Amino acid sequence: MMKRLDDFRLRMGRDELVPIMIGGMGVDISSADLALEAARLGGVGHISDAMIKTVTDRRYQTKYVKAKQAQYKHNMTSSDKSEVKFNLGDLAEATRLHVQHTMERKRGNGMVFINCMEKLTMNAPKDTLKIRMASALDAGIDGITLAAGLHLGSFALIEDHPRFRDAKLGIIVSSLRALQLFLKKNSRLNRLPDYVVVEGPLAGGHLGFGMDWAQYDLATIVADIRAWLVAEQLDIPLIPAGGIFTGSDAVRFLENGGAAVQVATRFTVTRECGLPDDVKQEYFKADEDDIEVNEISPTGYPMRMIKASPGIGDGIRPNCEAYGYLLDANGKCAYVDAYYRELAAHPGEKRISVKDKTCLCTHMRNFAIWTCGQTAGRLKATTVRAADGSYQLLSAEHVFNDYLLSTDDQIRLPEPETALA
Ligand SMILES: Cc1cc2nc3c(=O)[nH]c(=O)nc-3n(C[C@H](O)[C@H](O)[C@H](O)COP(=O)(O)O)c2cc1C
Repeated sequence: MMKRLDDFRLRMGRDELVPIMIGGMGVDISSADLALEAARLGGVGHISDAMIKTVTDRRYQTKYVKAKQAQYKHNMTSSDKSEVKFNLGDLAEATRLHVQHTMERKRGNGMVFINCMEKLTMNAPKDTLKIRMASALDAGIDGITLAAGLHLGSFALIEDHPRFRDAKLGIIVSSLRALQLFLKKNSRLNRLPDYVVVEGPLAGGHLGFGMDWAQYDLATIVADIRAWLVAEQLDIPLIPAGGIFTGSDAVRFLENGGAAVQVATRFTVTRECGLPDDVKQEYFKADEDDIEVNEISPTGYPMRMIKASPGIGDGIRPNCEAYGYLLDANGKCAYVDAYYRELAAHPGEKRISVKDKTCLCTHMRNFAIWTCGQTAGRLKATTVRAADGSYQLLSAEHVFNDYLLSTDDQIRLPEPETALA
């Protein structure tokens, strides 16, 4: 008989968890409410620290963004953003607020981790990352997943933190090579990652592949990494991610050595997810043809999104004085360059368009870049429609349990809330 995902458990040290991790989804798409449901149900949820000050302003009535914007107001029309820095005390406080408020509400036997994207270089990569990680640990987060743009020395930034060895620390990689480099660089610390998320080419958000992503395959990458870990006698739980759409997809990975799965796209259309409801409808409506991988993210990594995302091609003035999360160590962002190039090429024009890069901070903050996994084209098959044609939102619990209990690639539909169309 075919197994269900619920027949497996994720073991991390002495902890035993339901083998479902809901992945971090930046700028509060994987909200505290969503992460807390995963934890209540015995799995692992993620909050994200992407644009943390914007998130606390919106959730907890702080005024960090206004304060930063006021401080650097004189620089708003300048193409040189090098002086625009984050106040590290505010950054620590914002992180603490977000994590503390989340952890206070935690119920159940699962865990809540925070997703830290290292490509948020914030015009001072090491200082800001160190503060972000240390503050999250201070505030009681169960674990940290280092993602996107993995800096090889990042564990060392918190090696003196009292929780360095008790908190769960994990990394996301898309190749054996990336994992080997990370482990080599960290060998001095005598502290292995507690888990490794292996993210394949069908995932949402940024991809750890080039534009040749379609030539790669998650199962093959997981098998390569697993074979190497066995040969090296390293016992680190592997957590495949990207395109795992049904409980049976997940079971196939667990039968081949995965310790759990990380999933995200199916949770974008839950009530607990932080996207606005009208955007959730866009995710439901999208067909596979409506999704593309492009290179407009200033990070330099390809990113998958719905083609109709309003942020694509938009030419808004850079908002680094308010945000500035993507400024690199020299205060540069590829969108700032692209914007001022277009401005110079079209003098006097009121609204310019910038096609090759996007102001990712502004547009992720405003939910105007609709990033998603490749399987978003199948979301409409996971729910029922109301009489007005709209798709019924799901509860996170429903989706979580569908992964856990389904067999034969089936997807259980929710009970209709209103009459069916
Ligand atoms: C809307 C959305 C936003 C995402 N944002 C992030 C992010 O901020 N950081 C990150 O490491 N991964 C991000 N991801 C990737 C997910 O955490 C996850 O690994 C991946 O999407 C799993 O594949 P699936 O969506 O096919 O289930 C995002 C995914 C989605 C769908």
